Amino acid sequence: MTVKLKIENVSKIFGPRPKKIIPMIEKGISKEEILAKTGHTVGVYNASMEIMEGETFVIMGLSGSGKSTLIRCLNLLNRPTSGAIYVDGENVAGYNKTQLKYYRQKKIAMVFQHFGLFSHRTVLENIEYGLEVRGMSKVERQKIAQKHIETVGLKGYENKYPDELSGGMRQRVGIARALANDPDILLMDEPFSALDPLIRREMQLELLDIQNRLQKTIIFITHDVNEAFKIGDRVAVMKDGKVEQIGTPEEILAKPASNYISEFIRDIDRTKILQAENIMMKPFGLVSLKDGLNVATQVMRENGISSAFVTDRKRQLQGIVTIDQAIEGIRHKQTLEEVMSTDVITVAPDEYVQDIIPYVLESKYPIVVTDEDKTIRGIILRVHVLASIISDSTEETELETEV
Ligand SMILES: Nc1ncnc2c1ncn2[C@@H]1O[C@H](COP(=O)(O)OP(=O)(O)OP(=O)(O)O)[C@@H](O)[C@H]1O
Ligand SMILES: [Mg+2]
Repeated sequence: MTVKLKIENVSKIFGPRPKKIIPMIEKGISKEEILAKTGHTVGVYNASMEIMEGETFVIMGLSGSGKSTLIRCLNLLNRPTSGAIYVDGENVAGYNKTQLKYYRQKKIAMVFQHFGLFSHRTVLENIEYGLEVRGMSKVERQKIAQKHIETVGLKGYENKYPDELSGGMRQRVGIARALANDPDILLMDEPFSALDPLIRREMQLELLDIQNRLQKTIIFITHDVNEAFKIGDRVAVMKDGKVEQIGTPEEILAKPASNYISEFIRDIDRTKILQAENIMMKPFGLVSLKDGLNVATQVMRENGISSAFVTDRKRQLQGIVTIDQAIEGIRHKQTLEEVMSTDVITVAPDEYVQDIIPYVLESKYPIVVTDEDKTIRGIILRVHVLASIISDSTEETELETEV
């Protein structure tokens, strides 16, 4: 994976003499105190992070925590007070006017919370705008705009005006307009927060879908933890201008770095975040087809379990055998293959817990997590699913279970 964007010790202080404020922050003087004493506002302090090419990186935090300030530093709508921002290895904070113009036209685009559309321009004309500014011919820019109208599912609305559209549709125009420049990096500052919950959910899925197709580097701001964890490959949590934690949703759920973050994630629906591989355990008591029924019986006895999964030599799942089946089989001189059952429920490692719950409730046996070639990756017991829903931590626990 290549680093697309590297933010290095970036601070942004608002006020007449911002550089003077940095030493005060270093001394540990709070944002409130600095404001009261000097009239300067700490927007962002000492933020560092690396964002990978093709990554969807979310910045989350309460109102005023510095999310917009940071994202605006990335396209230099805000000039950082200190620190560096590298895009493809170049420090954009040092760009001159011409370089900056090129950077903003070609490399980076922004989608705003309140759409920011031109009300006197049609959908098509709004999307064309950036290309028009660049001096592209009408035929060419309309062709590109049309393509992106289709990307965001607005075909047929080309000649409508923004006030003839719903909020969700307006934001689709905003996204298409940003995409029209074909930027590498897409900045999205709370793009969905003005939308009602149903439309919002639809737009989130749509964004994931667009991202799957286009593979941009997306930096997405939200103060909604469910949105952050649904969309983000990784999430940075900000508080009072500082970055408190950076990690994947699973990492943040498993080990929140502070009470602030624990509070944030308290109400999250874990079943929509955690995937099979996050809650599975190492498979135990596996028997190989070639081992036969006597070995199977012995394995079950040794492990204190009443059923065992059967694999081939490559650890690919073949079925399950219960202790009763094994004993009966031995009595009737049958083979393991003859007595085992093959109706084992399997799920992929990336299946969400939410979608696994019905299987777990229905199945007499543990659920098996397998790769596409049926290789066993782990097993999930009912108790794992329950623990993933209720516990604050997904760290592995020794569970006393009957299989
Ligand atoms: N242009 C500005 N001049 C002075 N202070 C500013 C300016 N822009 C932001 N701030 C201050 O910087 C801090 C961070 O603001 P910012 O807008 O980045 O927060 P945010 O996390 O985006 O919040 P929200 O969720 O409400 O959009 C706040 O204290 C804000 O008052
Ligand atoms: Mg903001």
